[in-house]
Amino acid sequence: MNERQANVDIRPYSLALAPQSRARIKRQRPGCIWLTGLSGAGKSTLANELEIQLNGRGLHTFLLDGDNVRNGLCRDLCMSPQSRKENIRRMAEVARLMVDAGLIVIVSAISPFRADRDAARALFAEGEFHCAYISTSFAACARRDPKGLYRAALDGKLRHFTGLDSPYEAPLDADCEIDTEQVDIQTATNRLLALVLDQKHRG
Ligand code: ADX
Repeated sequence: MNERQANVDIRPYSLALAPQSRARIKRQRPGCIWLTGLSGAGKSTLANELEIQLNGRGLHTFLLDGDNVRNGLCRDLCMSPQSRKENIRRMAEVARLMVDAGLIVIVSAISPFRADRDAARALFAEGEFHCAYISTSFAACARRDPKGLYRAALDGKLRHFTGLDSPYEAPLDADCEIDTEQVDIQTATNRLLALVLDQKHRG
């Protein structure tokens, strides 16, 4: 019997308090904004700036960053396609719980596979999930190389590197696309803010 089969006897307990009741006392509309893109594309920088801006507006947020989550909840996972799938599944489930708790959740993860991002989106209601594609090119990310990972990967010292010997499937359904070579941090953050605050701004 695998872990999944072992759970068939467990029925979800219907919580007495509706999620909206938690959000109401925070006076905010909970949701998840998901930043996807190559390593070094600028996801973490933008996610952090977005969180600061939201916090400054009195909104209760949390930022789930791939590098951080991989140090704890996902420290048992590697960079194989299966592990990446599980990494994204866990981040999406945690984001779902936090949204139910009334928070605005920012997820920053390469999340290279379309199917895994689709599965994440499927956990949320229409309008509750926004996908921001940080589309900075491989060449630009490799030039920046803030962690020296591109050098290591190009030298053959790091395997399964996204964009090199592990694929990145660009989103077809992004709510917003930002190339951080073309757009400055403030402009990019404003776009993300508009998405989260539902100001009907796309681009
Ligand atoms: S994901 O593919 O499962 O979404 P995640 O965003 O959590 O990845 O973690 C990616 C981070 O791991 C990168 O920011 C980078 O610092 C580091 N990393 C280590 N090895 C690799 C690799 N082979 N490919 C991409 N990123 C890697």
